[in-house]
Amino acid sequence: MQTQKATAIAFPNIALIKYWGNRDQALRLPSNESISFNLGDLRTTTSVEFDPRLTRDEVSIDGHAVANHAYERVVHHLDRVADSAPAALKHSMPALLDGRLRARVVSNNTFPMGVGIASSASGFAALTLAACAALGMVKTEAELSGLARLGSGSACRSVPGGFVLWRDAYAVSIAPPRQWNLVDIIAIVAGKHKTVGSTEGHALADTSPLQIARVNDTARRLNLCEQAIAHCDFELLASVIEQDALMMHAVIMTSQPSIIYWVPATFSIIEAVRELRRSGVPVAFTIDAGPNVHCICEAHALKQVKQALWQMDGVRDVIQSDVGGPAYVV
Ligand code: PMV
Repeated sequence: MQTQKATAIAFPNIALIKYWGNRDQALRLPSNESISFNLGDLRTTTSVEFDPRLTRDEVSIDGHAVANHAYERVVHHLDRVADSAPAALKHSMPALLDGRLRARVVSNNTFPMGVGIASSASGFAALTLAACAALGMVKTEAELSGLARLGSGSACRSVPGGFVLWRDAYAVSIAPPRQWNLVDIIAIVAGKHKTVGSTEGHALADTSPLQIARVNDTARRLNLCEQAIAHCDFELLASVIEQDALMMHAVIMTSQPSIIYWVPATFSIIEAVRELRRSGVPVAFTIDAGPNVHCICEAHALKQVKQALWQMDGVRDVIQSDVGGPAYVV
């Protein structure tokens, strides 16, 4: 067998309606549906090269060889991709059948990892597309999305483009990027990696008595968010995404053990965003499993929001992105 290589690009995504908790932990089947949009100005580029001369898989992220848990996660995902090969391909490549296929994975992000921007989403989406392409496998977008989900739940939303709905096994696009000129302005308040990863967090979701109420109310929030996107209704979007993010953090804070991702600057930014909105600026906040605040605004408000954020104590950096397209093979 010769070496077989492919490269793919994927964008992280920001959830407007959050995914928190799994009804099947191993398969990462979510407890509730979610909606996101891709962040087209931030990207992960991943190359996968299957090389018969390698004695073990090699994984590098942002120029550093990766070990331990992160390494195992990537290698396990390559095994899943290999497993998903059709029987004919497995028979034409015996190394696929007996698990001897080794790869060199090189992945680079244009944004810092582990600060609440979902590098695992774009990472597993790009890894899935690159690995499938390197093996010459042709899969549908739904199949690629479902496969990416097994690596990291939200990765399934980084496969389709624009505004994306993840219902159960895979995600689909519900509107193209041009539907609405929204921007995500991310106020970075801490550069350190979060202490409790989302995989552990999901596993704790059901220990909060609030999770069942949050899950049962999902259809209502989903519906409002879909309406807001269809009609570019910012007031509606603002009210539903802020409520949704606060509901997720209420679950996170009340799980056992309790997790609090926020720091004092997180509260200050929430207040500042609400103050801006009261003064007529179309901006709303959402927060992932970390302390950073994603300020979602209409593109014409970008300058004003950025200026306000830069003036705040505790804001170390401001990263911005507009709505991006699907993951693709280069
Ligand atoms: O895909 P994971 O396991 O990293 O979970 C993502 C969880 C949140 O970012 C907090 C919410 C979401 O829907 O993206």
